[in-house]
Amino acid sequence: MTTKGKRILLIIGGGIAAYKCLDMIRRLRERGHTVRTIMTKAAHEFVTPLSVGALTNERVFTDLFNLDDEREIGHIRLARDTDVVVVAPATADLIAKMAGGHANDLATAVLLATDKPIVVAPAMNPSMWQHPATQRNVAQIQNDGVEVVGPGIGEMAERGEAGVGRLVEVPELIAAIEQRLNPTKYESAKPLAGKHVLITSGPTHEPIDPVRYLANRSSGKQGHEIAAAAHRLGARVTLISGPVSLPEPNGINLVRVVTAAEMLEAVQQAMPADIAVFAAAVADWKLAKPKSEKIKKSSSGEPPALKLAENPDILKLIGHLTKARPTLVIGFAAETEDVIANARKKLKSKAADWIVANDVSPESGVMGGDRNTVHLVSRAGVESWPEMHKSEVAAQLMARAAETVSPRRTAAE
Ligand code: CTP
Repeated sequence: MTTKGKRILLIIGGGIAAYKCLDMIRRLRERGHTVRTIMTKAAHEFVTPLSVGALTNERVFTDLFNLDDEREIGHIRLARDTDVVVVAPATADLIAKMAGGHANDLATAVLLATDKPIVVAPAMNPSMWQHPATQRNVAQIQNDGVEVVGPGIGEMAERGEAGVGRLVEVPELIAAIEQRLNPTKYESAKPLAGKHVLITSGPTHEPIDPVRYLANRSSGKQGHEIAAAAHRLGARVTLISGPVSLPEPNGINLVRVVTAAEMLEAVQQAMPADIAVFAAAVADWKLAKPKSEKIKKSSSGEPPALKLAENPDILKLIGHLTKARPTLVIGFAAETEDVIANARKKLKSKAADWIVANDVSPESGVMGGDRNTVHLVSRAGVESWPEMHKSEVAAQLMARAAETVSPRRTAAE
């Protein structure tokens, strides 16, 4: 869906990723939007006002105390004559200033003066992102109603550095901006308001000894997207996640766990729920007796025998509850062959209402990737969905769930 002809005020911060703004401006204009820009002083080190102005076809604003700028359009009008304010790349410093309510330059003054939605796309070194000060500031601006998009995971401009901190890709940022400009009528109706949605996500790690563990390749992306989608529909969301390197989603109660046993305990504590989605790739087995000391190589060269024990099946336990069972229990089936037949078996054996089945064979690229092709298996039959971004799978799944648990609210749509 394109949101045509909106006014976007883009604040370009001082980071290497600033060059991506040039591409974003071009694409936003192709989509019919007008883009006005403010560049912070630091942004000038990375892109020039000349190139930004050439792409926006508008004057570039830079200085709070520039008489010409103020005469042409005062900073208060600049802050309000727009439909959305976007900050990209948002540096740790700019986010800190926003959190503190500073207004000592044009960008921060406009951010304080605006009455329009604000979308912030952070980009910084992973250590700066993970610093408690940055995390505190991000949580603060989110509490203030700012939407934070990303950062993404990957290689950084600094050689050899990788982790969470990259500016999200331009198409993802444009999608978030347009979403903010025009939340669907459906999302605005908040069909999951008053409902509690519980989601498990990510892998679990099962200790072998203090330094080693059993794990799997789940990234947690699909589960986290489902949490975000449920939140957008107005639900109270508890996201119980195994170890992942994803940013903490906005407005959601995140419970971090490591092992399957911890995940089960967290699920039981978070109950009751109206909808429970089991997207985690829970390890089926744990070590029967994890060692409390690091296992050493034996002098005979014989490898250690690791005796495994079965983990609790969380979905199965919740699916079979007779008291306080969630209205809708949704499981996933990660399969490398006979996807639908295996999903049907799981639907029955785990007493789920729906199973979202996906092919996780290495060729599919699902594990760790951004896209997913799923089949929704229920007692009513099988629906095969086209390949979609994991966020779209999440949005559709939660919209469907909302129709099931709150039919009255959505019928009014
Ligand atoms: N699941 C769970 N607890 C477990 C194992 C699986 O809650 N101990 C849930 C998963 O979150 C998912 C569903 O069960 O929703 C199916 O997971 P999957 O790994 O596909 O199936 P398994 O039951 O592990 O069966 P198998 O590995 O034999 O295919």
